Amino acid sequence: MITPFDSWACPLDALPMKRIGNSLICPNNHVYDYARAGYIHLLPVQLKKSHAPGDNKEMVQARRTFLNTGMYTPILNTATQVAKTYIAKHPMNRRFVFIDAGCGEGYYTVGLIERLQMFVDKNISVLGFDISREAIMAAAKRNKKFDWAVATNKKIPVIGSGADGVFSLFGFPVWSEFERVVKKGGFVAVADTGKNHLIELRRCVYKHVIVKEADTHITPSGFMLMKEVPVRYQLSEISFEIADALLKMTPHYYRMTAEKYDSFRANPPRAVTIDTILRLYKRL
Ligand SMILES: C[S@@+](CC[C@H](N)C(=O)[O-])C[C@H]1O[C@@H](n2cnc3c(N)ncnc32)[C@H](O)[C@@H]1O
Repeated sequence: MITPFDSWACPLDALPMKRIGNSLICPNNHVYDYARAGYIHLLPVQLKKSHAPGDNKEMVQARRTFLNTGMYTPILNTATQVAKTYIAKHPMNRRFVFIDAGCGEGYYTVGLIERLQMFVDKNISVLGFDISREAIMAAAKRNKKFDWAVATNKKIPVIGSGADGVFSLFGFPVWSEFERVVKKGGFVAVADTGKNHLIELRRCVYKHVIVKEADTHITPSGFMLMKEVPVRYQLSEISFEIADALLKMTPHYYRMTAEKYDSFRANPPRAVTIDTILRLYKRL
């Protein structure tokens, strides 16, 4: 059963907010209205660095087209397993609160919760938020029962210590905020890319492709690294449309010259390497 997320904090003064009618209101009378599409905008101009931060419409659509193929299912399954294991260790009759920070167009948020519900009918509240309004509008279309917000990792609009788990999948973690919102014993699951991720596509974009591991991994303070799960496989026989969507959901496309794009279109890679890692941290 999905229950509404009810631990909102005002993005301006961090005070707890109450839902009254179609709005969230803080004690200082900051009022935020729900959009008809079913999400709430909690990113006041003071917290924005540009007019339309985050992924643009084209990136969101490309991500949706690609993710809907199911080709990232192994990543979704790995993230789901984290939540399943956590739930199995806790009393059956309590509510679980999960947050997808930088949820994009909601593929993982929705997929994860649908899979958890198949596993056992739990009382779950879920919040997916992203700094991109385009992404959140698309997410709200995927599932109307979840709570969706336009918001930033830098000031997560939720009251502290209430979340069982935060997912930050290919996003931009802000650890001080994750530490604030996750309860002790809860988790943060972070998906990242490895050195060979989409290497065939990167070769179509750049003259020299740098293949190196990310800088040495440092466990953020307040957390303990519990495990690292590499998710590596090969996509094969992919069509131009799929390769194109995969390219356009990444920043690589925006660094591509017109000439390079023409040659990609004429000769798209038929196989693409997926090289990702999911790190699970426990909140101490
Ligand atoms: C690579 S996408 C990943 C989206 C989604 N997690 C997925 O894997 O499909 C990164 C997302 O982070 C969002 N983003 C960027 N900066 C952010 C911030 N400060 N707070 C929240 N989201 C942010 C972007 O708008 C984009 O949707």
